[in-house]
Amino acid sequence: VTARTPLIAGNWKMNLDHLQAVAFVQKLHWTLKDAKHEDGTVEVAVFPPFTDLRSVQTLIDADKIPFALGAQDLSAHDSGAYTGEISGAFLAKLDAKYVIIGHSERREYHAEGDDVVAAKVKAALKHGLVPVICVGETAEDLEKFGASAVPAGQLKAALEGVPASAEIVVAYEPVWAIGSGQAATPAQAQEVCAALRSVLSTVLDADAAARTRVLYGGSVKASNIASFMREPDVDGALVGGASLLADEFSSIIRFQK
Ligand code: G3P
Repeated sequence: VTARTPLIAGNWKMNLDHLQAVAFVQKLHWTLKDAKHEDGTVEVAVFPPFTDLRSVQTLIDADKIPFALGAQDLSAHDSGAYTGEISGAFLAKLDAKYVIIGHSERREYHAEGDDVVAAKVKAALKHGLVPVICVGETAEDLEKFGASAVPAGQLKAALEGVPASAEIVVAYEPVWAIGSGQAATPAQAQEVCAALRSVLSTVLDADAAARTRVLYGGSVKASNIASFMREPDVDGALVGGASLLADEFSSIIRFQK
């Protein structure tokens, strides 16, 4: 039994323009009517592209839709001459609660290393956003170092200078499981999520480790969510592809252990 409220998060990546986003959120909400997220048993969050945030925020506010809003990235800087960047202050103004930091696609295609990730985590906290810190090993890392070493190292680096009282979320996303249709086994996810929780305990403190949600991500779907949620150290899921399908994502949200 855990006191941590499960978090089911949909990372849309670069999908759905703002009109499609509004239609999708309406459909998802309608599909979920009377589901347990309404009573706070499960927290649902959506992470649309930047250009959709305003429209989605207006909709969830007007229709009192119980979804938290998150962004997929933010700048490490507050404001100024950073062409193309988005400040955490702007996200907070739009009522974003969460921001994904260090997704493997940012690490790979935008060369974001541990130092950039740590700076972005600090920027998120400074603006009152909850960073969703993504960590995970490649297939090559897995072969060389086993599953936990690389994600644990990435988390340690991301937590540099973070106060133990900060609200954060950690997402374990093995790179080889993302978009591949080949999810980790629940036992693999549990092993790494437990290792990440012990990093939280060492670097922050025991209370932070006990209260922080650690998610699994990588080919999560309606048919495997329950098996992950039965693991004691898995507190939810960061869902990519399946979060773009209203029926599938709503079945994930309605998981039964
Ligand atoms: O951030 C979520 C993600 O990387 C997992 O993607 O498509 O394997 O669920 P997917």
